[in-house]
Amino acid sequence: MTTLHVRRLMTDDVTDFRNLRLEAMQAYPAAFGSSYEDTLAKSEMQFLGWLDSCHVLGGFGDGQLQGCMSLAREQGVKLRHRGMITSVYLREAWQGSGLGQMMLARGLDIAKGMGLLQVELFVSAANPRALAFYRREGFAVVGTVPTALNVDGAFHDEHYLVRHLDA
Ligand SMILES: CC(C)(COP(=O)(O)OP(=O)(O)OC[C@H]1O[C@@H](n2cnc3c(N)ncnc32)[C@H](O)[C@@H]1OP(=O)(O)O)[C@@H](O)C(=O)NCCC(=O)NCCS
Repeated sequence: MTTLHVRRLMTDDVTDFRNLRLEAMQAYPAAFGSSYEDTLAKSEMQFLGWLDSCHVLGGFGDGQLQGCMSLAREQGVKLRHRGMITSVYLREAWQGSGLGQMMLARGLDIAKGMGLLQVELFVSAANPRALAFYRREGFAVVGTVPTALNVDGAFHDEHYLVRHLDA
């Protein structure tokens, strides 16, 4: 039986995390604001800073890192009740396994524990699977940024989604 688990990524995970991010950029260029080149140019120190400053969750299957998700609190007295979720990725072989749902559920629990009132994220309009996933998990589309992403000359709108955490 396959064992799935989710935990926060720590300093020791930095190489696996970096490799997973690079893989995500190559596999789904239209799904992310960052590019493969941007990601490749980031130093190990920058990835360590990311792991330190945000809650980066890893989704593990068969003992290996198969997915990730980053949660960060907005800064400032007027904004600190809001959280941003970014960098959500699950390897194709693990999509539909329940691991994505587990990562998101853990992220929402952590967000509640941090006292956040809502979490927010962007999804490309060209990513119906992710949109269906977030809607199923209680997110609502509250707006759309036209021509938000330029992926090698192909422009994509991005939806802005919010999930309130009071429920
Ligand atoms: C987004 C992601 C994390 C979701 O995890 P997942 O394990 O694939 O999600 P699930 O299988 O639990 O749910 C996907 C839902 O989309 C539905 N779906 C699949 N393909 C679809 C399509 N082309 N159009 C509409 N809905 C679709 C599935 O039926 C399922 O809904 P259901 O449970 O109501 O039947 C994962 O697909 C992923 O990492 N994708 C690549 C990177 C990416 O897009 N990241 C998100 C950036 S915002």
